[in-house]
Amino acid sequence: MSSPADSTSTESGSPERFGYSWDRFHELSADQEEQFRRWTSLIDPETGWKDKTILDVGCGTGRNSYWALTYGASEGLAIDVDDRSLSHARRKLESFPGMEVRKESVYELEIADRFDIVFSIGVIHHLENPIAALRNMAHAVKPGGKVLIWVYGYENMELYVNVLNPLRQFLFSKLPMPVIWWLAFLPTGLLWVLLRAGFGSIRYFKLIRGFSFMHLRNRPVNPLCLSALVWR
Ligand SMILES: C[S@@+](CC[C@H](N)C(=O)[O-])C[C@H]1O[C@@H](n2cnc3c(N)ncnc32)[C@H](O)[C@@H]1O
Repeated sequence: MSSPADSTSTESGSPERFGYSWDRFHELSADQEEQFRRWTSLIDPETGWKDKTILDVGCGTGRNSYWALTYGASEGLAIDVDDRSLSHARRKLESFPGMEVRKESVYELEIADRFDIVFSIGVIHHLENPIAALRNMAHAVKPGGKVLIWVYGYENMELYVNVLNPLRQFLFSKLPMPVIWWLAFLPTGLLWVLLRAGFGSIRYFKLIRGFSFMHLRNRPVNPLCLSALVWR
């Protein structure tokens, strides 16, 4: 069965650029587990994943599936469209034989009524057609199951939206990733020093104060990395 969403381009999801980043940052760490618990705070880590079948949409390196399986999820499927990300996900999840890692776009997903929990962390706000993605996710969940998405909030992002976003659109999203990677060294260094000097009182700053330099450099906490993305 095909739908108009089948032909939606995956380019605006920036898989190439995420793949570049995930290839340099893919080790698990305690601060990422803490992030996962925050992103999925509607699901109790002690009991909520136990014996559940899961679908991870836009799995990246597979870290979120890893924690869900560690908390007792029984089996499932993790999909992404970037080969580098997928190879890290396969390695990370190889000790869970019930977990399949597959190259597939969320737009191509045609599974119906199969998973207890369908989740997607930090993905659908990048997509050209987030509604189609969400529709396919809702289709894949069992009746009575859960669909969980985490997307960027507007709060505390005003500076980014009003100042950096225009720069992103016209400059950074057009620069090659190796250039962005080296440019990002400067704001990451500044952020790293400021955080260690106690800058920032909101909860988010308290969380990222514990991030390693590499984590800060690679993830959207770094305005240059965020600016490198192609999305709409
Ligand atoms: C910000 S990363 C999030 C990765 C992962 N969810 C995490 O939190 O670590 C976004 C991911 O979405 C993937 N992606 C982009 N477009 C996609 C699509 N159409 N279908 C599935 N995954 C997609 C990218 O390749 C990338 O790995």
